[in-house]
Amino acid sequence: MDAIKTYIETNKERFLNELIELLKIPSISADSAYKDDVLKTADAIKDSLARAGCDHVEICETDGYPIVYGEKIIAPNLPTVLVYGHYDVQPPDPLDLWESGPFEPIIKKTDLHPEGAIFARGACDDKGQMYMHVKALEYMTETNCLPCNVKFMIEGEEEVGSANLAVFVKNNQEKLKNDVILISDTGMISNTQPSITTGLRGLSYVEVEVTGPNRDLHSGLYGGAVANPINVLAKMIASLHDENNHITIPGFYDKVEELSREERDEMAKAPYSLDAYKKALDIDDVYGEAGYVTNERNAIRPTLDVNGIWGGYTGEGAKTVIASKAYAKISMRLVPNQDWEEITELFKTHFESIAPEGVRVKVTPHHGGQGYVTPIDNIGFQAASKAYMDTFGVKPIPQRGGGSIPIVALFEEELKSKTILMGFGLDSDAIHSPNEHFGIFNYFKGIETIPLFYKYFTELS
Ligand code: BES
Ligand code: MN
Ligand code: MN
Repeated sequence: MDAIKTYIETNKERFLNELIELLKIPSISADSAYKDDVLKTADAIKDSLARAGCDHVEICETDGYPIVYGEKIIAPNLPTVLVYGHYDVQPPDPLDLWESGPFEPIIKKTDLHPEGAIFARGACDDKGQMYMHVKALEYMTETNCLPCNVKFMIEGEEEVGSANLAVFVKNNQEKLKNDVILISDTGMISNTQPSITTGLRGLSYVEVEVTGPNRDLHSGLYGGAVANPINVLAKMIASLHDENNHITIPGFYDKVEELSREERDEMAKAPYSLDAYKKALDIDDVYGEAGYVTNERNAIRPTLDVNGIWGGYTGEGAKTVIASKAYAKISMRLVPNQDWEEITELFKTHFESIAPEGVRVKVTPHHGGQGYVTPIDNIGFQAASKAYMDTFGVKPIPQRGGGSIPIVALFEEELKSKTILMGFGLDSDAIHSPNEHFGIFNYFKGIETIPLFYKYFTELS
């Protein structure tokens, strides 16, 4: 048996228990009520990096949550891998849909995870995937096989837009100098068909507010005679897509990179079952932009989605009222060449322009970020590909992902290095949803595959 397999086998209970302890801390970055827990998680990560063999670890303060930094520099002439991950998690709500507490990790078997999976918020996104790197480092230090230098940068604000990390990266170019950035915060096709994410979508996130009359009104006395902000908002939102589900904002598609027929044919070769997809989501049919298939709609095409909408009376029973205000949170996923700040401006101008007389509209931008595409003709990709090939026995397929990690584009801009996205999660792991989980198989496979990336990257450098 390989040394790494033996090491995992010998230490598997501890590897699981250490992750379980991390998952018990509710490090919800979006909710200030959890501030102490977020900070406690940062400390726990720092300690784990020191124990795993980093020579230097530190908590780097920012205007928000701290960044945990660690490094092990073995020789200046060797290549340096910079590992990025995040220790913050999404809010767990709606709580009543969890089968067990989001911060009370338990192991259960599922159809796709017959060996069991750890259920907890952050299990896959991203504590479980980030911790694979810590354990891979432990293995390499303990067995004296770390072939290159390594730096860790684990942040606590990924789920809220990484604004302070952007400042940290700009101010610490020398400290963060590296030859490749390695991230496990994405997924793969299945446990028998690994894939490497070669693209992330950009994001523009806005909030809109529609104001009608200066106070809530009796819907009988005033109904029909004044603009109802909720009716108006619903109509405005509906108008943002046409009958082909194209987005109607003028200029929205101007810079969208169109893939060639060959590139699209290549994408279509990835194993995929529409039936299984529909079944897993309990839907009769898929939905989306005309002219594109599902795997294109959620990866190479931009989107516009309402993430939340509210206003008026939502309590028990009925109240006959016309609300003074209506609100929505809207996100747009962007593809390469679309600039998120430009798109935010286009949205704002258009949304204000379609407001009817009788209401006022306010658009407030939240966060955003650029998309990213990793070339597949570099040694980082080749090293990752060889590593998966060794541990899965199957060649990984390059695949563009639909999610966003906005900081990745900034890494390239500021640090001039490419990012390799070695994800080990599955789409069905329910990240951001109730009952998030991470397969035990996936956790250990990640720990097994990562040292091989280091080995091949160093050999190819
Ligand atoms: N890990 C995800 C991103 C992801 C997941 C990319 C799966 C590809 C496949 C990350 O934590 C995330 O959720 N990002 C946010 C963006 C952020 C600015 C809030 C997202 O994509 O919504
Ligand atoms: Mn993540
Ligand atoms: Mn996330």
